[in-house]
Amino acid sequence: MNDALAQVFALVETVDGWLTREEGELLYRLARGCTGRGVIVEIGSFKGKSTIWLAKGSQAGANVPVYAIDPHTGSAEHRATGDGQIWTYEEFMNNLRRAGVEGLVHPLLTTSAEAAPSFRQPVELLFIDGDHRYEAVRQDFDLWFPKVVEGGYLLMHDTIRWDGPRRVARESLYRSCHFRGVGFVHSISYGQKVARNARSDRLRNRYVLLLHFVYDRLSYIRVPPVLKRAAKAVFSRLQ
Ligand SMILES: C[S@@+](CC[C@H](N)C(=O)[O-])C[C@H]1O[C@@H](n2cnc3c(N)ncnc32)[C@H](O)[C@@H]1O
Repeated sequence: MNDALAQVFALVETVDGWLTREEGELLYRLARGCTGRGVIVEIGSFKGKSTIWLAKGSQAGANVPVYAIDPHTGSAEHRATGDGQIWTYEEFMNNLRRAGVEGLVHPLLTTSAEAAPSFRQPVELLFIDGDHRYEAVRQDFDLWFPKVVEGGYLLMHDTIRWDGPRRVARESLYRSCHFRGVGFVHSISYGQKVARNARSDRLRNRYVLLLHFVYDRLSYIRVPPVLKRAAKAVFSRLQ
């Protein structure tokens, strides 16, 4: 298993993006656990770093298809730099081919809101990492979460230090009665969908929310990388 993860890490190391190794490993593990009761959907693929972790995990499991939704024209914050022209599709496809996952990944070159109405398949794993503005993340959650099957997983990137994803995660994941087993790995918050969680789940989810709040606050303090790594390890043990 560790060898498999090390191989994927070697593949994605040279792919541009913001996902950490620990975050990628979480995507891999949860994608590997997908059984085929639904597909895997990623909102926001950029150059394929997270897509490759998801697809490699799926390949190690039940080969569940990965739908990668991205217009490939960048997010508002990307377009604000340089000449504002962004086109990531070719590089995305080259990275998928290099990783040997192009057969499993179905790119949808459109926005999540445009893709949602005609997307009729149940979803077993939903990863939200598209437009990070609050209204956009809220829309992603509201349009796509109903498609997730019971027992399926929701994961949201950048719930640390980014107001939009952080707010939606706090409102609709940590405080919701439809999740159990919530957790976070660096900036990814995740949980398993249930029809209605038990009181013990809600208590635990609130406890993890408190940890998430403290971890987020600490992330604003400048510390040497060694202390950052130690904090990550401590917070993962506390969950
Ligand atoms: C932070 S990047 C995603 C990073 C990627 N998950 C990774 O691990 O490298 C955000 C991506 O979301 C895409 N995006 C922006 N608005 C979107 C929308 N409404 N629907 C789908 N994707 C969107 C952008 O084109 C950009 O590639």
